[in-house]
This record gives sequence, C-alpha cells and structure tokens, in this order.
Amino acid sequence: MTPQFFQQYEENTAAVIAELKTGLLASDAQIAPKFFYDLLGSRLFAAITALPEYYPPRVEAEIFVNYSKEIAQALGTHATLIDLGAGNCEKVARLFPILQPAQYVAVDISVDFLRDALEHLGRQYPDTAMLGVGADFSTQLDLPADVSDKRRTFFYLGSSIGNFSAAEAVPLLERLRRNMGAEDGLLIGMDLVKPIATLEAAYDDALGVTAAFNRNVLLHINRILGSDFRLEDWRHIAQFNTQASRIEMHLEALREVRVTWPGGERHFAAHERMHTENSYKYTPESARALLQQAGLVVQQLWTDPMGYFALIYATPV
Ligand code: AVJ
Repeated sequence: MTPQFFQQYEENTAAVIAELKTGLLASDAQIAPKFFYDLLGSRLFAAITALPEYYPPRVEAEIFVNYSKEIAQALGTHATLIDLGAGNCEKVARLFPILQPAQYVAVDISVDFLRDALEHLGRQYPDTAMLGVGADFSTQLDLPADVSDKRRTFFYLGSSIGNFSAAEAVPLLERLRRNMGAEDGLLIGMDLVKPIATLEAAYDDALGVTAAFNRNVLLHINRILGSDFRLEDWRHIAQFNTQASRIEMHLEALREVRVTWPGGERHFAAHERMHTENSYKYTPESARALLQQAGLVVQQLWTDPMGYFALIYATPV
C-alpha cells in the first residue's frame, strides 16, 4: 500500500515573529525550544543522541529490547499505532515485526519529515497501511477520518513530554485521551530524576555538542527575525533546578550586548540570561500523578536497572 499524507498544520510567519519578539522583550527573556530545530539544529540533536553523556535514547532502547515480550503483550497485535513526533519513524518501526500493526500513523509538524521514512516502510511492510499527518499536536489533534479507531496505541517516546510543565503537559495528555477509546492506550517515555552530575553532564557534554545546539538557536532567530545576535557573545548553561525538577538551558551574555532587529532592540547586561529550554524529570510517583491528572492510569512501568528512564503504558481511567 502506498502511504497517504495529510498536512493539517500551517505555519503563520507573522505569529512566529510576534512570539519571538514577545519572548525577547520579556524582563526574563525566553526563546521556545521549538526554535532549536532548523536543519542544522535537527542534525545537532541527532548528534546529541549519539553522545556518551546523553543517556535517554540508549536507555529507552534498552528497555524496549529487555521487555519486548511484555510490551507486545500489553499493546496487542494488529493495532493502530499512532507515533507522535515520529521524525524518521525508526523507534516505532523496530516494533513492527513483533506488533504487526494494521495501520501506522506517523504524526509530525511537517509531512515532509515523514515522506521518505513512510515510503521506505510501506515497501518493507506491505500489509500495514501507512499514514503521514502534519499536525502540531501540542496545540491541536484532529486525526483524519482515515485513521482507524480500532485498538489505538499512541506512542510519545524519547522524553519529549519533558519540554512541558505540568500546566502544559496535562492538556496535551488530555487531548490524546480524547482521541482514545476504552480499549486504547498510550506508551510514553519519561526521563527520571537521578544524581545531578549525571543530569547536568547529559545537557552539557564534553564535546560541546549541546552547547552548539543551544547557541545555534541564535542563528535560526537571526534568519527568522533579521536580528543580529553574535555567537561569540553567548555561552551555554545547563543547570538542574531541584525545586522544579527540571534541567534548564539558558544562554548567558558574556558581556553587555545590544541586539537589534527591524523595528526593535533589546539590551542585555553582562551575565544576563535567556531561557531556552526546560526538560522535566519525574519519579515513578510523579509520572503516575501527571498521567492521572489527564485521566490516564498507569498499567505498566518498565525501567532500566539504574532507574534512569521509564517507559509507561497508560490507559483511559
Ligand atoms: C527532545 C526534549 C527530549 O529534553 O532531553 C536534548 C532535548 N535538549 N539536549 C531533552 C534536548 C538538550 C530533549 N528532548
């Protein structure tokens, strides 16, 4: 079967520029993490996933390997698999031989990210219907009518939920739950609290790849906004905020900086910071509580021997 594609999300350049200006002009300046992912940023993130310090992808994959039988038993075969933030689709595709999905629905912000992967998978698994959906599910999720409602399993892997505070994560999870029936479920990867040195090294690696990933946001913003950020003015910071249970990434001004763009400017004092990312870390208990708030109950929680990462299967209450 040849894959079908639906592009639902449409980028609004004026709204994006307005959002960036609001963030830059706030007394505590901030830039949303979605601005990391231009072409170079996406490649730098791929490099991050290969770093020795950045454990999440490795540990999540290890959990999939070690518990594949139990995971398959919980999810069942011949289901509809809905992969949120699918990208190259490789994580969920690894489960195809064991899950034999009836339909595979890859969701990402743009179907262009999904085309090659789905066409390749379509040839490899001719009995599985393939759908690509371009949607921003952090704000909206209206699946096309072609998505089967038989035994839906949503996948939200890689600790992607970590970018959202509880106030943002609960509505997102509720949105998923509204797209689920009583027989359906969610398989979600959540990063766990661990010693601070391990957490901070994962976000400030010795090679400086995460620093490059963080600083690259300035090049991306210069292109969108026409601003004049200079890389040499900013350094990468990654710190664990114990109170909020999150890694925070910031860019810190190395000296006094004046940034200008058409119609505006911002002055930064030396050592002033811009907040670029939060990555929330959970305990098994706080993960359960978050899902519960969204009307989801944890059926199974799989982890690794060190308790670094959790793979959770949850179903509607
Ligand atoms: C893609 C949001 C899961 O929070 O670990 C990695 C992003 N930032 N290193 C994370 C990220 C810096 C990553 N997520």
